[in-house]
Amino acid sequence: MNVMVISSSPNKDGLTAACAAAAVEGVLLAGGHTEEVRLNELQIGLCQACGDGWGACLKDHECQVKDGFQSLHARVRLADAYVLVTPVYWGEMSESAKVFMDRLRRCEATRGGESSLFDKPVIAVAAAGDSGRGMITCLSSMERWIQHVQARVFDLLPVNRWSREYKLVAIRAAAQAMVREAMEK
Ligand SMILES: Cc1cc2nc3c(=O)[nH]c(=O)nc-3n(C[C@H](O)[C@H](O)[C@H](O)COP(=O)(O)O)c2cc1C
Repeated sequence: MNVMVISSSPNKDGLTAACAAAAVEGVLLAGGHTEEVRLNELQIGLCQACGDGWGACLKDHECQVKDGFQSLHARVRLADAYVLVTPVYWGEMSESAKVFMDRLRRCEATRGGESSLFDKPVIAVAAAGDSGRGMITCLSSMERWIQHVQARVFDLLPVNRWSREYKLVAIRAAAQAMVREAMEK
C-alpha cells in the first residue's frame, strides 16, 4: 500500500508541512508506505492548452509540455492512494497545486474508467493559516478534481491556525483509516 503525500507550499515548516507530516505518520502507523512529493521543489509549468484547447492529452493521455510533470505522472500512476495538502491562497489551492492538478486532470479524466486514479482513495487537506477563510471553497474545487479524475473522496479536511492541534490528530487518523481500509479489501 503506497500512499503519495503531495504538498504544495513553499514553506518547509508551516501549517501545510505539519499537515503533510501528520499524514505520513498516519500511513506509517497503519503499516503503509509513503512517498512524499513537494510540488514547489519540482519544475512543473503551466498547461499550454495545446491545439484548440484540447491537445494530445485528449487521446494520448500524456502531456506534451516536457518538464518535471512526466516523471511525477509516472509515479502517480503507481500509487494506491493519495493525500493532497495545499495551503489556502485566496480561498483556493496554491499555484503549484493548481498547475499540477490541471495537467494531471487533462491526462486522466479523459481516460474515464481507465484513469490511473480510478476508485483510488484521496484525502484532501486545505490549510488556511491566516484569516482562516476560504477552506471550503478550496476543498470544493479539490473535491471536483477528485471526481473528474475518477478517484474517490476518502475525506476532506479543513485546517486553520486555531484548529491546528486537533486537526493534525484528525489528519493522522484519516490517513491511518485509509490505509487500513485498503489493506482490509
Ligand atoms: C497569496 C496568499 C493568499 C492567501 N490567502 C489566504 C486565504 O484566503 N485564507 C487564509 O486563511 N489564509 C490565506 N493565506 C495564508 C496561508 O493560507 C497560510 O500562510 C498558510 O499557512 C500557508 O501554508 P504554510 O503554513 O505552509 O505557508 C494566503 C497566503 C498567501 C501567500
